[in-house]
Amino acid sequence: MADAQARIEELRREAEAAAAAAASAAELEELRVRYLGRKAELTGILRGIAELPAEERGPVGKAGNEARETLERLLEGRRAELEAAELEQGLTTDTVDVTLPGTPAVPVGSRSLLIRTMREIEDVFLGLGYRVMEGPEVELDYYNFTALNHPPGHPARMAQDTFYVDPRSLDPELRIEPAPTSPGEEVAGPALPPGPEDVMLRTHTSPMQVRAMETQKPPIFIVVPGRCYRSDPFDATHSPMFHQVEGLAVAESITLADLKGTLDEFARALFGSERKTRFRPGFFPFTEPSVEVDVSCFRCGGSGELVDGSRDSICKGTGWIEILGSGMVDPNVFGFVEANGYDAERVQGFAFGMGIERIAMLKHGVPDLRKFFENDVRVLEQFR
Ligand code: DAH
Repeated sequence: MADAQARIEELRREAEAAAAAAASAAELEELRVRYLGRKAELTGILRGIAELPAEERGPVGKAGNEARETLERLLEGRRAELEAAELEQGLTTDTVDVTLPGTPAVPVGSRSLLIRTMREIEDVFLGLGYRVMEGPEVELDYYNFTALNHPPGHPARMAQDTFYVDPRSLDPELRIEPAPTSPGEEVAGPALPPGPEDVMLRTHTSPMQVRAMETQKPPIFIVVPGRCYRSDPFDATHSPMFHQVEGLAVAESITLADLKGTLDEFARALFGSERKTRFRPGFFPFTEPSVEVDVSCFRCGGSGELVDGSRDSICKGTGWIEILGSGMVDPNVFGFVEANGYDAERVQGFAFGMGIERIAMLKHGVPDLRKFFENDVRVLEQFR
């Protein structure tokens, strides 16, 4: 029957126009129910096909199904379009400032006082033209002691309570060349694993003096921050793990006056422009002469007394605070790196080493070293 086909065509056009005009996904859903739902006219026509005269069933069914499919596709397409437009609209008009803190605001972390102090020390020396280098915490006896002029059996080895490492526990890849035991000695034969007491946790950052000179010809100006280990108690002034910064300056014609000028500059940069330094004779196997360096007390100004006349507890009434060990590099140390251009007749140098915990405690009045490692946020928050 031509009537039914014509009606199908009419419905299709009507629905197409309505879909094109629909302004929201919700309106489209209404159209879907109206034109394709169970009670829709088109659905009724399709359902009534069986009652049509036989010759009309085919053409009407075909037209009806085609109209149905076309409308389904059209509505689906429009729905996707409208949803995308609605999302786009939302993104531009719903202004959410993603840079605002969450609720509650998440606190921002900060560097620990120790690391900050370490960076501060590095910065002073970077400003003086030094480079920062780091070295291994698991170290060979050769670098930690022997090449620093502590020959095997030297009593100074006993002064540092060393943690030894079983070399068999090391990754074979990490096996290190055996080192000569006296200056100038050649190493012969293939690499052997180190012996039972040849591997240790470094007791100071000084081993990097020799490692650095092995890899870089003079002149050399470096600072070496890092962790060190000694079998010490854990109390207010000791920790089995602690931090040092080492310094090494080697060139032609470096003198003790350069050492003094450098450390004066350092003391002023770290503790204030009024500071003075004092050098006392000291002993370290790898420096000759060796000096202990004090800085004038930044609290009492060097008088040893506070304004109320009481004894200054920071400098213990002396007006001076010991901050580091230092000295001119012992020619015996150069002997181990002579082949790399460190001829003791031609180059001189100075070295120094300081404990970072001690400097941070002095500078910020931290009474107990353990505070650095407890991660108590109340302490951390004081130094942001
Ligand atoms: N390594 C020494 C220690 O841990 C500190 C030290 C002293 C380092 C004198 C030096 C130095 O470079 O010249 O006690």
